[in-house]
Amino acid sequence: MRALVCHRFGDYHDLRIEQVAPPSLPPGGVRIAIHAASLSFSIKLLIAGKYQLKPELPFIPGAEVVGRVLETAPGVSACRPGQRVLALIGEGGYAEQAVSLESTVYPLPDAVAFGEALHLGLSYLTAYGALAWRARLAVGETLLVLAAAGGVGLAALEVGRALGARVIAAAGGAEKCALARDHGAALCVDYRAADPREVMRTLAPQQDVDVVFDPVGGAMSEAALRCLRPGGRLLAVGFASGVMPQLQPNILLVKNLSLQGFNFGAYIGWSPVDQRKRYEPQVRAALAQIFAWQAQGKLSPLVGQSYPLARFAEALEALHQRNTVGKVILHPADTMSTAASAAIDPPTLES
Ligand SMILES: NC(=O)c1ccc[n+]([C@@H]2O[C@H](COP(=O)([O-])OP(=O)(O)OC[C@H]3O[C@@H](n4cnc5c(N)ncnc54)[C@H](OP(=O)(O)O)[C@@H]3O)[C@@H](O)[C@H]2O)c1
Repeated sequence: MRALVCHRFGDYHDLRIEQVAPPSLPPGGVRIAIHAASLSFSIKLLIAGKYQLKPELPFIPGAEVVGRVLETAPGVSACRPGQRVLALIGEGGYAEQAVSLESTVYPLPDAVAFGEALHLGLSYLTAYGALAWRARLAVGETLLVLAAAGGVGLAALEVGRALGARVIAAAGGAEKCALARDHGAALCVDYRAADPREVMRTLAPQQDVDVVFDPVGGAMSEAALRCLRPGGRLLAVGFASGVMPQLQPNILLVKNLSLQGFNFGAYIGWSPVDQRKRYEPQVRAALAQIFAWQAQGKLSPLVGQSYPLARFAEALEALHQRNTVGKVILHPADTMSTAASAAIDPPTLES
């Protein structure tokens, strides 16, 4: 099969598409013919060998895929051959086939297109877990989402609304702010060239935010702490800015604030101790809720850009240069030729 292979930790531009043997099927395993895979922020770190988990070399990146089940190991009951599925596999997704343990394979409702499923998976599950399980966002509370037009940002806007919160947002640029408003933000401020404290004063002059969903880090987190009301929660979800925030414990103390970390990977086996079996019912219930909201028209997952696998490096550059919105996906089965591809392909939500 064709696959993008990483032989040594370093620059992602060094990765090449190769012909490799398909992975073998482990006990409890499911083999999937991949239709598309998510491109995620952490891939660059993973390939550089700087991510919290270090895969064994050589490895095929690609943590989340959609496709059709080709075969299942004896005793597998989560899905059957021919079924359309989403799978959270950790690695191996930038290839024509992948295998997953059945506990992280999720059959797709007929109404959910493959592209939609890639956004509804990891991004919406992260937003749901952070807001519902960790921050316990309540009806009527105010949620502020940073980087609101990104993969987890758009998901947090919509999950926050579905949980009954009032949602406000910040994003980089007028177009991203318009997109955030389209996805449910009552107000969105462009923070690209602005002073972070000024952004927070505009968003919440009364300092009345209950929960901040923060995938950005750095100066924006530091400023966001100041717009929380007493008892508020700052959810540290990611550090897309590349800067760890310097948060002042005295502000936490004075206003009875909580700083909460959230790592969805811990629920699906992407952690030093694999706990995916323990959390499987909880994750399946969350995804069922997400699919139900989607069926009710409460969610609008968005594939902003899709690329053939051969343009992996270009796609990753666009992601890190902040030139993408929603979910960015790769099509592993696409031709290896780059000649026919436009700079940014139109959204692909086919099933
Ligand atoms: N904790 C978890 O379980 C979990 C799960 C999934 C993702 N994450 C993390 O959440 C973060 C966002 O993930 P995502 O999938 O939403 O990625 P994404 O779609 O690429 O969104 C990231 C956004 O961050 C903003 N950003 C701010 N400063 C940036 C900078 N210096 N460079 C690049 N982007 C910058 C950009 O939006 P603006 O231009 O609007 O600022 C960008 O669109 C990542 O750090 C990721 O690792 C965490």
